[in-house]
Amino acid sequence: MREFGYGMRPIFRTEAMNRLKGKTALVTGAARGLGARIAERFVGEGADVIINDVSLATASATADRLGGRAVAADVSDPASVATMFDAIAAMTDRVDILVNNAGISGIEGDNDARERIRQRAEAMARGEPGEVTEGIAAVTDAQWRRMQAVHVDGTFHCCRAVMPLLPEGGAIINMGSIMGTFGRGGGVPYCTAKAAILGFTRALAHELAPRNIRVNAIAPGWIHTDMTDPLAPLHPFLEMQTPMGRMGEPDDIAWCAVYLASDEAGFVTGQTLSPNGGWYMSQ
Ligand SMILES: NC(=O)c1ccc[n+]([C@@H]2O[C@H](COP(=O)([O-])OP(=O)(O)OC[C@H]3O[C@@H](n4cnc5c(N)ncnc54)[C@H](O)[C@@H]3O)[C@@H](O)[C@H]2O)c1
Repeated sequence: MREFGYGMRPIFRTEAMNRLKGKTALVTGAARGLGARIAERFVGEGADVIINDVSLATASATADRLGGRAVAADVSDPASVATMFDAIAAMTDRVDILVNNAGISGIEGDNDARERIRQRAEAMARGEPGEVTEGIAAVTDAQWRRMQAVHVDGTFHCCRAVMPLLPEGGAIINMGSIMGTFGRGGGVPYCTAKAAILGFTRALAHELAPRNIRVNAIAPGWIHTDMTDPLAPLHPFLEMQTPMGRMGEPDDIAWCAVYLASDEAGFVTGQTLSPNGGWYMSQ
């Protein structure tokens, strides 16, 4: 990897500025990946962070490492979210920042999908288009519902439940994706869910603006996490498609979240910020 130019190494600020001092933040799906890094940067900026994930054990492990508190809930389940917010209300009288980050790719643990990805990458390496072999005709009702339930319902459940705890000046950040603006064959359920989150974000931003509560979305490009690990055979192609010549790192997203959560973004609401190395240039 060259030091400058195509594929250059990302450079991240490491010094914290206490930009979130005195604020309490809840980050969903934060046991690992983007959520964990967002939580880590929030802690570094002085926030009191509450880590959610499906399993209390994994959420607690990350909370212990970062110096935060842990709660468990499956965000797709309204009863589970209500119970989690009862627990949060017993811990604190305010949640200044909510990050709806929990998400799934839909191919977790799916070895057939991994094999299809490998074959697709091989075809692309031979100069063939690498067409999607399994599309919408193969999507089951359960897969479709789960995808919408975790992303769209989960974002709704947590936004609704946080309202009594969210003070004026609060901020909500919803995790979208470049897939929510740029469609991708083979990913119709995921793209649909992420597009819904971007629409949800704009409507809620409008609704809460008079209370000085800001609602924004982050639409990450291709970022190295466990979620994109099954795509490893395709990573070289994704890097080639990205004008900056690399996939993103969790800090590319975490610093964006710090900005949107901070008072420095005080006039920013209803927006989608998309750190993606130039893979998709719009909004
Ligand atoms: N990695 C990327 O390239 C990328 C790109 C665009 C958007 N995103 C989005 O960013 C978010 C985080 O992705 P990641 O790459 O860190 O994924 P990840 O798989 O590494 O982490 C996701 C976390 O969410 C948790 N989670 C899943 N379902 C949950 C539920 N129902 N309730 C509570 N927690 C749940 C998981 O247990 C896991 O800890 C997701 O919304 C994802 O769709 C990721």
